[in-house]
Amino acid sequence: MKILVTGGSGYIGSVTLARLLQAGHRVHVFDNLERGHREALPPGIPLTVGDLRDAAAIADTMAAVRPDAVMHFAAYALVGESMRQPELYFVNNVTGGINLLEAMRAAGVKQIVFSSSCATYGEPGSADIDESTLQSPTNPYGESKLIFEKMLRWYSGIHGFRTIALRYFNACGATETLGEDHADETHLIPLVLRVALGQSPHVKIFGDDYDTPDGTCIRDYVHVVDLAEAHLQALERGVTGAMNLGTGRGFSVKEVVEACRRVTGHPIPAIISPRRPGDPGRLVARAALAGEKLGWQPRFTEIDEIVATAWRWHQAHPHGYA
Ligand code: UFG
Repeated sequence: MKILVTGGSGYIGSVTLARLLQAGHRVHVFDNLERGHREALPPGIPLTVGDLRDAAAIADTMAAVRPDAVMHFAAYALVGESMRQPELYFVNNVTGGINLLEAMRAAGVKQIVFSSSCATYGEPGSADIDESTLQSPTNPYGESKLIFEKMLRWYSGIHGFRTIALRYFNACGATETLGEDHADETHLIPLVLRVALGQSPHVKIFGDDYDTPDGTCIRDYVHVVDLAEAHLQALERGVTGAMNLGTGRGFSVKEVVEACRRVTGHPIPAIISPRRPGDPGRLVARAALAGEKLGWQPRFTEIDEIVATAWRWHQAHPHGYA
């Protein structure tokens, strides 16, 4: 198939792009390169440097490329930033999303695989999260993803689109060549590994008074290679609807820091700090639906193994793609 990939230079977009190429698909990347990295794109890949907020740019690209399907990764994805500047999230993720859907409609392109998030669920409590859990976001980032999911449902019902929303839990890990490099890094594993690289003196643990066994937050860490595989399966099988992508296993912040100590051999000092506003205590997926509909089983379920892939990449790229 020929796939238009928005946000192909970003963390999950670039790993999925590589998987699409490996599977023999043709691709065209649409990306503003604002938060992604040109270096994460294979040399010579067809690329339009454009912004989804520019309706004409995406419409022209869609009409020229005429893809069989779209994979939509391009978005802002920082919870904290979204609480300070919600407008960025509604304009980029929602208005940009409408421009994308309208460009598809005009060009007669009807299949889309969308990067959604467990942030659409908000703070559902301590039970594992399945797709029937109420979606009630607690920040504009999650809200922007939920709004786009709702638009997808209406476009499928009314315009006959085939749409799937993949709700990622905590994406992490790396391939040999592609990894996580955010200018404004807020994610746990890269921040812990920076300490092991000698780039920061300690990591902060945001809160140890949560209602969890060791008091720190529990998350479902899902490897980026497994996410890429799920995208490929969703595309090729033409599956529709929405589904969680997680491992079904939760690890606490302290357990992740311990794993990083084992993998790197560095003592990694950790300082207990106040809670980060808006962090739910526990977010773990029930991911049976992806198994049923996509035949998807995450290959990486051990936290040490996941961290080891990230560590290899960060050692080889101590300053990211720069
Ligand atoms: N944490 C620390 N110290 C740090 C950074 C993070 O203790 O320096 C903790 C957080 O409090 C949280 C856990 O580590 O409990 C994971 O934090 P991340 O920032 O790595 O990830 P989040 O769970 O906050 O965010 C992820 C995705 C978001 C998505 C969100 C849904 O990155 O895109 O899950 O809640 F919206």
